[in-house]
Amino acid sequence: MRRVLEHVSTWMRSAGLDVRLDPASNVIGRRSSSQAGAPALVIGSHLDTVPNAGKYDGVLGVLLGVAAVQALGCRRLPFAVEVVGFSEEEGVRYRSPYIGSSALSGRFDKALLDRRDERGIAMADAFRAFGLDPDNVAQATYRPGSILAYFEAHIEQGPVLDACDLPLGIVEAIAGQSRLRVAFEGHAGHAGTSPMTLRRDALPAAAELILEVEQQARCVPELRATVGSIAVEPGATNVIPGVATLSLDIRHAEDEVRSKALAGLLDRAGEIAVRRQLTFRVVEAEHHNAVPADSQLTGMLASAVADAGLEARRMVSGAGHDGAIVAAIAPMAMLFLRSPGGASHHPDEAVHLGDVRTALDVILRFIDKLATSRLPAGER
Ligand code: GLV
Ligand code: MN
Ligand code: MN
Repeated sequence: MRRVLEHVSTWMRSAGLDVRLDPASNVIGRRSSSQAGAPALVIGSHLDTVPNAGKYDGVLGVLLGVAAVQALGCRRLPFAVEVVGFSEEEGVRYRSPYIGSSALSGRFDKALLDRRDERGIAMADAFRAFGLDPDNVAQATYRPGSILAYFEAHIEQGPVLDACDLPLGIVEAIAGQSRLRVAFEGHAGHAGTSPMTLRRDALPAAAELILEVEQQARCVPELRATVGSIAVEPGATNVIPGVATLSLDIRHAEDEVRSKALAGLLDRAGEIAVRRQLTFRVVEAEHHNAVPADSQLTGMLASAVADAGLEARRMVSGAGHDGAIVAAIAPMAMLFLRSPGGASHHPDEAVHLGDVRTALDVILRFIDKLATSRLPAGER
């Protein structure tokens, strides 16, 4: 991550940005305004990624920001432009997404500092090991009104634009998501001596729940529900599993649909546990409601897309984005680039070079529109 930050900082500097690393490890490049004290257009996305990932999720949005600033040259604008490479959007290490953007938006939950990763390292210690003081995270928060607009470009990460043969899409909302860790607990024992009827095996309960998650999600239009990881304890061939801990990721554009589906699944898990004489508990839960994009800003983006001679197709993002968090403190708009084959969170993730060029053209048109608009300076 340090090497990534150094590399991106070098590119930012050569585009003429003043670069700093904030207390939450967000790298921020700033180009000042022709008007002193003017708020900033913030162009951002994230620099972290998932295991065995592709090359574009997150980082493309940061580099498009840098490229846009480079293309602006010495043009004067009535607002500052900041390009932000957010830290820890995916939430892989601490099972909690949006750490950098939460800090910037004044929404970082300090309780997370005590959370431990798989190796038992507390987040606070991870900050220290990286040379950052965990007590300073709040200092990453932007002043109310300092952001005129937040813009994020991102690969679609799904097949819709590719199927419609369109290079770009406009995000009208980011779906809500719940992320949980849940555990069944029974009793570990000898795999050879314990009769099948006298066991309290946690793993078959987990298996039942996994199938239930898939079946229920298939019955609710547009619901996405995923068990992405499972840990079995003690985890040996000849030992009956005493504990099975599962992740659960559940998403929908309507918060009510998501909450209802989640409650149904937790009820089902409780029933499975009772029938199998196990205990069931929610170990961790984090919920993010769906977030609409700002209508005025999105209108400007749509007209930038139309001016480039393209259809301005609107869509809901099933993936989470830093924009969902920054939207709490600034008007937010997002542009999607087609993902060939819909691949994402996978090494096959790709973009067409021509789409990246087109996106850059649209971003510059969007900046032009913002420069001549009367968007009220950011406080909400
Ligand atoms: C971020 O990539 C997410 O999980 O939506
Ligand atoms: Mn991702
Ligand atoms: Mn992403």
